[in-house]
Amino acid sequence: MTHSTQPDRPAEIARTRPAPRAAAASTRREVDAAGRSDPGSARAAAEAAFEVTGLSRSFPLPRAARRGPGHPDAGSGGQPGDGKRAGRASRHASRQAVRGVTLTLPAGASLGIVGESGSGKSTLVRLLLGLDRPDAGTVRYRGRLVRAGRPRDLRWLRRDVQVVLQDPVASLNPRLTVGAIVAEPLECLRVAEDHDARVDEVLRAVDLPTEVRGRYPHEFSGGQRQRIAIARALAPRPRVLVGDEPVSALDVSVRAQILDLLAELTIASQLSLILVSHDLGVVARLCDQVAVMRAGEFVEQGPTAQVLANPAHPYTRTLLAAVPRLPGPASPLEPTPGQGPDTSPEGAASG
Ligand SMILES: Nc1ncnc2c1ncn2[C@@H]1O[C@H](COP(=O)(O)OP(=O)(O)O)[C@@H](O)[C@H]1O
Ligand SMILES: [Mg+2]
Repeated sequence: MTHSTQPDRPAEIARTRPAPRAAAASTRREVDAAGRSDPGSARAAAEAAFEVTGLSRSFPLPRAARRGPGHPDAGSGGQPGDGKRAGRASRHASRQAVRGVTLTLPAGASLGIVGESGSGKSTLVRLLLGLDRPDAGTVRYRGRLVRAGRPRDLRWLRRDVQVVLQDPVASLNPRLTVGAIVAEPLECLRVAEDHDARVDEVLRAVDLPTEVRGRYPHEFSGGQRQRIAIARALAPRPRVLVGDEPVSALDVSVRAQILDLLAELTIASQLSLILVSHDLGVVARLCDQVAVMRAGEFVEQGPTAQVLANPAHPYTRTLLAAVPRLPGPASPLEPTPGQGPDTSPEGAASG
């Protein structure tokens, strides 16, 4: 039966998610697919992958935004009182992109971070990855402090935590072949294994034929390019995959395929997942836990099913109401019936 009434929606979204995977996390690290020596694997399994406390990051406001709270650029991310101080202390006016975020990602768990554009999601991701320095607070990965610094000082983190970004066109070097793109992290991270074999393996994992190795990014559709980006992220056998709006640039039907692929891969490769999206439907589909971010803060956090069924914050209810829906019994992001797999050149022309 179709579910067209509002109250059915949380259950409908929740039903499309894969079974929670956190419960299996305690055993999976002992048979680490990476084959790395990890004597503490059983203990590590019980540890948090990421532990973040009191994380804050502010940026100077652009000049135009320093005129006060009425100005459109002042935005909701400005600190309370920014406006009042704007005249006298405008040179010091700032916008707090992330304020006091605390979160724990248990090993093997999947966390969705959802919030409207400008709510601070990408800033938070950059802080998690050590690509930016917080003003306050700490990020720990498996107990070790993440400090922004030179790439080589963060190699230990890159080895374990890989990222897929929104725009596969911007994130794939157009001058490199697919084979070179996917092999890049293996080289940068000095992964000691047969790179050619690993590239073939991850291309197959994302359902691309290994013959694509010799081709260039522009020869592929948007969805296929995102598969290449996912293959590259998987190549060094990370433990955590971070997706920052990984399907936002894709057509709805392709989006569903990529989400299904991510769900499949995170389970098969026993990955922890941090999935960032402005779309609650996207994170609900893949994540056991969800954090709702608004103006730099987590306003609500909890098991996805619970948050969907009983959103405590009015902002969460707004996001829930905005989840796109297709007619019929399909989930909000299921492919439109009749549309085939992602083999068409869609997106190739449009970007
Ligand atoms: N490097 C930067 N310099 C100045 N402001 C920034 C910078 N990065 C992000 N911001 C601001 O921080 C806020 C949050 O941005 P962002 O983290 O990109 O949000 P989201 O990813 O949720 O859209 C926005 O107001 C944005 O303009
Ligand atoms: Mg963003």
